[in-house]
Amino acid sequence: MPAFTHHLFVCCNQRAPGHTRGCCDPDGSEALRNAFKAEVKSRGLGPLVRANSAGCLDQCEHGPCVAIYPQGIFYGHVKIDDVPRIIEETVLHNRVLDDLLISPDCLNNPNCEHRRS
Ligand code: FES
Repeated sequence: MPAFTHHLFVCCNQRAPGHTRGCCDPDGSEALRNAFKAEVKSRGLGPLVRANSAGCLDQCEHGPCVAIYPQGIFYGHVKIDDVPRIIEETVLHNRVLDDLLISPDCLNNPNCEHRRS
């Protein structure tokens, strides 16, 4: 069985209102993940492209976050309106969207200037 070409992990972590780190899915609706899933399905990209809900990716200050593997791309502040162009540009044409890319200075940096605690 072939490997996934793109496996999208969409953070659906929910935390209580007022939590210092915030969260990617405050209402717990998984709306962003569902939008990716629908876009993948409508374009007939399955089964090699898959969008799964994920727990916290530890980039909360930049949420909502999406990680794309095996490319290792981390996008932040992703909105539902961004879903079609992520699929079109990144998944279909291997182009990284700089406006959504979490800065290397912030990614996995516990001292990221955006971190609130
Ligand atoms: S809650 Fe989404 S990255 Fe932490």
